Amino acid sequence: MVIEYNNNGELTMGGTSLKTVAQSFGTPTIVYDETQIRTQMRRFHEAFKKSGLNYNISYASKAFTCLQMVKLVQEEALELDVVSEGELYTALEAGFDPQHIHFHGNNKTKHEIQYALESKVGYIVIDSLEEIDLIDRYASDVVNVVIRLNPGVEAHTHEFIQTGQEDSKFGLSIKHGLAIEGVRKVKNSKRLNLKGVHFHVGSQIEGTEAMIETARLVIQWLKENDIEVELINLGGGFSIKYVEGDVSFPIEDGIAEITEAIISIAKETGFPIPEIGIEPGRSIVGEAGITLYEVGTIKTIPNVNKYVSIDGGMSDHIRTSLYDAQYEALLVNRNDQADETVTIAGKLCESGDIIIKDAKLPSTVKRGDYLAILSTGAYHYSMASNYNQMQKPSVFFLKDGKAREVIKRQSLRQLIINDTK
Ligand code: LLP
Repeated sequence: MVIEYNNNGELTMGGTSLKTVAQSFGTPTIVYDETQIRTQMRRFHEAFKKSGLNYNISYASKAFTCLQMVKLVQEEALELDVVSEGELYTALEAGFDPQHIHFHGNNKTKHEIQYALESKVGYIVIDSLEEIDLIDRYASDVVNVVIRLNPGVEAHTHEFIQTGQEDSKFGLSIKHGLAIEGVRKVKNSKRLNLKGVHFHVGSQIEGTEAMIETARLVIQWLKENDIEVELINLGGGFSIKYVEGDVSFPIEDGIAEITEAIISIAKETGFPIPEIGIEPGRSIVGEAGITLYEVGTIKTIPNVNKYVSIDGGMSDHIRTSLYDAQYEALLVNRNDQADETVTIAGKLCESGDIIIKDAKLPSTVKRGDYLAILSTGAYHYSMASNYNQMQKPSVFFLKDGKAREVIKRQSLRQLIINDTK
């Protein structure tokens, strides 16, 4: 994505002035570079095409979803991963082909299973042994299922952490025998068709090692147990750049490494390579989105800190307080030098409501200025809340110099719409 200052000193995204966007539509607002979202999707497609393998790319709705986002996913020929009745409803209301929807979740309710079955989703991802019985009970037709494996490997960014089944609420453990029991149960059911297996090693992973090692373990397990599958889904988790020093997953080289490794593992094991699936969320929308805020109170505590407060906070930006996540901020309406370290704070009544602890900003920043917080396209709107009765922000897609509203700002009325009088 191209974010740069124009000749008037205004920050632009894909050529559109973000000052104009903030002035025209108000703040806080989340703004996406639509071309960038499409580019990410196309890069994954191209990378897989080069491998010559059968593949599918599924967008993980949880990163950010709305009707227009779902339409874009369909236009770019990605499949869709949903994890709740609400995500499935959003997808169906957007007109997404249910055949290309996958339903996930470690505790799908009876109602969700019925809804997924009635909607004829492409497949349901089995996450427990109990669920197999539930699906079998409610299915009236043959239903495709994919078993989510807990391979006992979890990757956290740089290091591998070996975890036992007892540490994860997700999937059926290979090590503890639940996975093989799941396969047997599915095979014994007349209504369930075992389409494939799935794993997900973690989030914000920069390299390919974890995914490759897990694929090796899974392929060996499938071979040893004589399990034939049409699909192996490798999950999501590809990293993005939040701040200097972070690495955006190198899509072309990374997918080449993963697919080449799978081809050679399959050759070594004598295992026929099925369709390979991935489920990226963050790497599709994360860097393509930024949040615009207006600066309000600036408080300097001599020799201690300077707080620059903005008109949103943990209600639309929870990742700093929740994960200690790091972000970068840019002044939108002037291209002044960032010569000061300050704390950018939200406006909610909670001292943990911090956006960036040590932000580099120009010392000229004053009330009424606009700030852009970068890389807020994933898990921001989707994790937004109404804490402090804050309204959820509006969302725009920018393309060819035009801003298209995809989600309206929540109204005050909507905050009390479900309250009884
Ligand atoms: N597939 C499965 C089964 C997942 O559990 C996830 C993420 C994804 C795909 C997409 O992962 P991605 O490519 O977006 O990393 N709220 C957290 C992230 C939680 C992710 C949970 N699962 C955050 O803000 O970082």
